[in-house]
Amino acid sequence: MIRMAILASGSGSNAQKLMEHFSSHPGAEVALIACDRPGAGVVQRAWDMGVPCFLFSGAELREGTLQRELAGAGIDLVILAGFLRLLPVDLVRAWPDRMLNIHPSLLPKYGGKGMYGNHVHEAVLAAGEKESGITIHLVNERYDEGRVLFQAKCPVLPGDDAGALAGRIHALEHAYYPRIVEEFALGLGVG
Ligand code: GRF
Repeated sequence: MIRMAILASGSGSNAQKLMEHFSSHPGAEVALIACDRPGAGVVQRAWDMGVPCFLFSGAELREGTLQRELAGAGIDLVILAGFLRLLPVDLVRAWPDRMLNIHPSLLPKYGGKGMYGNHVHEAVLAAGEKESGITIHLVNERYDEGRVLFQAKCPVLPGDDAGALAGRIHALEHAYYPRIVEEFALGLGVG
């Protein structure tokens, strides 16, 4: 069984879809939710789904506490789903090609520092883009630059505001992230 941890900072709607998708999966399981914000929606979602939730501070992240927790839980694959902090290089190196992220734009466009949540959608709208989408990619030390595993596009429609575009992007994320994670996890040949 492949053991996965999801790292999230916010509402956790993607984490929810992943927990549901793998709740009775024969080959992979969400063994842990890890969150850096005690009040985040994802904490309640983990509780409701009966998945253990590990809370940690920025200082603990820097001191290696999260890395030790993941290693202690026997985590094979780390899934980022709206995790807003930069991970320590040591932690990223401890799961080489075993860490996935989802980004709400068609990378390499609209990635990098400060590009998260509505900042991404506002930049896409300000640039007058006709389409946007999602990117699922491996995480390496250069963050939004890891190998792209999957992209899906959606239109940017006249009259869209950041909220409308975010809704369309979230629908794509929910449809595809669990499937791509599953494909990747089952190809790992570990566990
Ligand atoms: C998603 O749009 C994801 O692409 C980005 O953060 C957002 C998280 O949303 N990295 P949620 O917390 O899963 O609802």
